Amino acid sequence: MLIWARPVEEVTNVHAKLRPGSPDDAVECGRICYEAFATLAAAHSFPCDFPSADVATGLVAMMLSDPGFYGVVAEIDGQVVGSNFLDERNAVAGVGPITVDSNVQDSTVGRQLMRAVMDRAAERQAPGVRLVQTAYHNRSLALYAKLGFEIREPLACMQGPPVGATVDGYAVRPATGADLDDCNRVCRAVHGHDRAGEVRDALDQGTGLVVEHEGRVSGYSTGLAFFAHSVGETVEDIKALIGAAEQLAGPGILVPSRDYALFRWCLEHRLRVVQVMTLMSAGMYHEPAGSYLPSILY
Ligand SMILES: CC(C)(COP(=O)(O)OP(=O)(O)OC[C@H]1O[C@@H](n2cnc3c(N)ncnc32)[C@H](O)[C@@H]1OP(=O)(O)O)[C@@H](O)C(=O)NCCC(=O)NCCS
Repeated sequence: MLIWARPVEEVTNVHAKLRPGSPDDAVECGRICYEAFATLAAAHSFPCDFPSADVATGLVAMMLSDPGFYGVVAEIDGQVVGSNFLDERNAVAGVGPITVDSNVQDSTVGRQLMRAVMDRAAERQAPGVRLVQTAYHNRSLALYAKLGFEIREPLACMQGPPVGATVDGYAVRPATGADLDDCNRVCRAVHGHDRAGEVRDALDQGTGLVVEHEGRVSGYSTGLAFFAHSVGETVEDIKALIGAAEQLAGPGILVPSRDYALFRWCLEHRLRVVQVMTLMSAGMYHEPAGSYLPSILY
């Protein structure tokens, strides 16, 4: 029976102990993360966001050891039952992945883990907090909305073979350290804030791309991937970046489907919709004045 249809006395509320995560939590949090997403996806006949438990554990291990992320772990009777993360690399914070052990879901642990990262963001005076929600999951949609997150954008997660297209007048090249200020300028013009911390990471990892139009940087990408974002002054910038990518890494790229010119172009270039997701925000949000691909973290 649906949770909201159950008599109140049947709804169990548990009090979990919350504490900051450490690298020692990676294996258990990674297992829970993989199982929670795999169980959810299987129940709705969707592919899992993580191809294996090892990939989920690798991601969680990275987030638990990188000072750019805050991790919080929930325990009941000394046993880890869930975790959540806050991406603190930029002024605007990003939430997730949040996962709760399938055995104790729907009993307020998720709410407690969400509150923990929202409190943390407030303490750090982040002007806004964002996340990307799995659209087919009624529970997370309801939970986030109850906590004050507003729906901002429907996203089509799209995957397919390399597009291999060019856009006349838009030249794509690898980003270098000298492009940081230009990338931040483009992001501020489109979103009203920059994502300098993520851009720096992409430059260090060598995944960044910039697109130039009429002799200046008009867009950039930290990678055409689920965990990376792209920003362009116009839709042509984003088309050029997608067209130049050697692959679309992970489950796919997140295409705002209200950006119809971009969405249709992706469909025309043989990309397929894997699932629909939802960008949500609490606090500061500016309607983007340009074109963009959010990452799974926002
Ligand atoms: C999403 C997830 C983290 C939430 O944690 P949880 O412990 O199950 O959730 P909670 O019990 O704390 O909160 C669920 C809330 O949604 C409400 N809810 C659940 N289903 C609902 C529905 N269909 N309609 C309206 N409200 C609903 C519950 O009443 C509760 O609200 P309340 O706290 O005001 O009573 C957890 O279910 C999970 O790990 N899911 C799999 C992975 C996942 O989807 N991660 C998030 C990806 S966006």
